[in-house]
Amino acid sequence: MKHRYFFETISKLKEENRYRKFVNISRSCGNFPYAVNNNNQKQIIIWCSNDYLGMGQNPQAIAEAKNALDLYGVGSGGTRNISGTSQILIELEQIIADLHDKESACLFASGYVSNDASIQALAKILPDLIIFSDAKNHASIISGINNSKAKKHIFKHNDVEDLENLLKQYPLESNKIIIFESVYSMDGDFGKIAEIINLAKKYQSLTYIDEVHAVGLYGSRGGGLSQQLNLAKDIDLIEGTFAKGFGAIGGYIAGDMVVIDAIRSLASGFIFTTSLPPAIASAIISNVKHLQNSNVERENLHRNVTKLKSLLKINNIDFVDNQSQIISIRIGDALRAQKISQKLLEDFDIYVQHINYPTVAKGDERLRITASALHTDKMIEDLVIALVKVLQEVL
Ligand SMILES: Cc1ncc(COP(=O)(O)O)c(C=O)c1O
Repeated sequence: MKHRYFFETISKLKEENRYRKFVNISRSCGNFPYAVNNNNQKQIIIWCSNDYLGMGQNPQAIAEAKNALDLYGVGSGGTRNISGTSQILIELEQIIADLHDKESACLFASGYVSNDASIQALAKILPDLIIFSDAKNHASIISGINNSKAKKHIFKHNDVEDLENLLKQYPLESNKIIIFESVYSMDGDFGKIAEIINLAKKYQSLTYIDEVHAVGLYGSRGGGLSQQLNLAKDIDLIEGTFAKGFGAIGGYIAGDMVVIDAIRSLASGFIFTTSLPPAIASAIISNVKHLQNSNVERENLHRNVTKLKSLLKINNIDFVDNQSQIISIRIGDALRAQKISQKLLEDFDIYVQHINYPTVAKGDERLRITASALHTDKMIEDLVIALVKVLQEVL
């Protein structure tokens, strides 16, 4: 009896082809994008990692992490509030503030936590805050907004007219914030950064951008799309992650000193959880600094993305058109998407994850392919050959 609802939940997910089976792999340091499929011990090629630049295996970062392990041990020892702050975390915050040309930054356990915790804190700080959120914002932003209990408006994805219609209902002096992304995680399209900044100025709203899929990858120093467009100074809060372009784990926000100080003070998800381990922070510092000074990884990534997109076009494989590294092939059916993914893995040793509801809407199921800086021309060609076959065979 006590398990009844759990069984029912699982059965329902299975009926809807939404039951998640995780692919058991071992990444292989130095060999990314190769990994081992632990179900059959075969070598596979990963085409769905967010380690876009291969920084997860950067030898310098690994050496720094090992050194920090020897110096400081495994964990940070507790929350920054009651157990002290590692000097390395302070250094990392300064590097991030500088990366985004902001006065200050605050670290969190992940990008998810940084959104969830910061948005809740903002609603505690700003009386009667009204949040304007893009319809395609990530689950972590949605969670932050819902948990904040602030008044919210969801504007149509990337629709600045809709946003303006919502903004104009409120007096200029009311507290408002527009929350949006620079690179949307599923369709890979760019947010309308310049237009949103203009609206924010007109209606006296704060701006909050999620640069999770852009940091490291865009901008002359890896500061994201806002840096590439020279617009970072016009955005109040920039949120990012260390888990994708920077190849590790952890998240952050950056902004004016007093804003970050207030968020840091009121964000539960910052105060009441253990801080990042020093070894991870050391590796991150190494990767962020590396990408501030090197364009090689960014150039390789964008070259590979261009090559893959052009081969897909030549082979008449439709994908969501965008300017980013995220290549989504819409399938529109949960079971078919799952079968295609399975066949690519079983027959071609190619790992492309299918994406189902609730990550995308029902009927919008897809394959989400992410090229990396380390895929070779041969890997790209083999992927397209496999896709052509599998898309024809699995109907
Ligand atoms: C747009 C966006 N924001 C935030 C996150 C959360 O980042 P993290 O993986 O560091 O928790 C993700 C995760 O994929 C994301 O896609």
